[in-house]
Amino acid sequence: MSKPINVGIIGYGFMGRAHSNAYSKLTQFFDTEHVPVMKAACARNRDTITEFAGRWGWESVETDWRALIERPDIDAIDICVPNHLHRDIAVAAARAGKMVLCEKPLAMDASEGREMCEAVERAGVPNLVWFNYRRVPAIALAHQLVDEGRLGRVFHYRGLYLQDWTISEDLPQGGHTLWRLDVAEAGSGVTGDLLAHSIDTAMWLIGGVDSVTAVTETFIKERELQDEPGKVMPVGIDDACAFLVKFKNGAIGTFESTRYARGRKNFNTFEVNGAKAAMYFNLEEAHKLLYYDHADDGIIRGWHDVLVTDSDHPYMSHWWVPGCVIGYEHTFINALADFLTGLDTGVPSQPDFRCALETQLVCDAVLASARTGQWVRVGEA
Ligand SMILES: NC(=O)c1ccc[n+]([C@@H]2O[C@H](COP(=O)([O-])OP(=O)(O)OC[C@H]3O[C@@H](n4cnc5c(N)ncnc54)[C@H](O)[C@@H]3O)[C@@H](O)[C@H]2O)c1
Repeated sequence: MSKPINVGIIGYGFMGRAHSNAYSKLTQFFDTEHVPVMKAACARNRDTITEFAGRWGWESVETDWRALIERPDIDAIDICVPNHLHRDIAVAAARAGKMVLCEKPLAMDASEGREMCEAVERAGVPNLVWFNYRRVPAIALAHQLVDEGRLGRVFHYRGLYLQDWTISEDLPQGGHTLWRLDVAEAGSGVTGDLLAHSIDTAMWLIGGVDSVTAVTETFIKERELQDEPGKVMPVGIDDACAFLVKFKNGAIGTFESTRYARGRKNFNTFEVNGAKAAMYFNLEEAHKLLYYDHADDGIIRGWHDVLVTDSDHPYMSHWWVPGCVIGYEHTFINALADFLTGLDTGVPSQPDFRCALETQLVCDAVLASARTGQWVRVGEA
């Protein structure tokens, strides 16, 4: 018999839409005992959230997230708002006994992240952070290949996350659509926004980070405020960040992220080099994993594309026939299915808050290293 989970979502932007799509599609593609019910959507403007709720199938609306959390008919709170709101909403939701699903990065910094972990753990409520790239079938396959020992000892990890949408100095900061450029709402720039994804993927694939040394740069030092035209303020975020990593298992890694890489849109890539094999992934061609196996016969040995669409590839038995690719939005449906399966089985899906705190700690160490110019050890979650 199905067990309904009444969800209340906060935020109707990019992630509000991606998550709403996941809730509405889940039962058509996955059979889980726990099933989401799209109970309420929340944002500050009643007209906008009413239009959004009607479009996506949310049963009711709220204009204050505190009122949403107080509702006895809500079982789970889904946080799809800018980063500076994650902590207060998650802590209040946990105290009210609700499950909490939170967008990444977990928090503004690790100290907020710790508070959030303590709140959900004290309340004993299921929790999840939406690091959805783990649910790209090709990345899940990469994880499986490492787990099966096919790469052998891993020596190198190379992560890039490049975009180019903030190059214009006329772009304002803050406000409804540009909160990512306002350090008070974002916490950091590319480090928390983009590298958090790269770090989560890397640690999931090859293990924890021991220490980092980083450089960050803010190329455009002042920008007008979107909400107060004419008022120019210093820019507090990192526009670009590059860092070196020593992993706990002895591997070393390099990571780079920027929003100033002209020509790059959502260029999220990694390469892993092991003693026996190597892998390369590029989100802009997300249906492929490039694989090199040193055990192949020498005369045909080389990089080859694995088209990750067969039913024995991760998640793909739930989707279409071999050769038919799935897209960005499906990663959220896969993530939701894993969360619900975790409720069914009692084995929580990852990353939960405690796991996402590890990524937050690496982000904090990266920013601390960029400030001091020193290697920084990553704290314990
Ligand atoms: N997993 C991913 O790949 C991914 C991608 C994009 C964004 N994110 C994360 O998702 C979160 C939201 O990002 P987004 O791109 O959807 O932002 P967005 O700007 O598109 O949407 C933010 C939403 O928050 C709402 N909001 C702001 N303050 C509010 C308040 N006080 N009460 C209620 N609603 C409020 C806004 O009205 C808007 O609907 C961020 O933490 C971001 O880092 C994750």
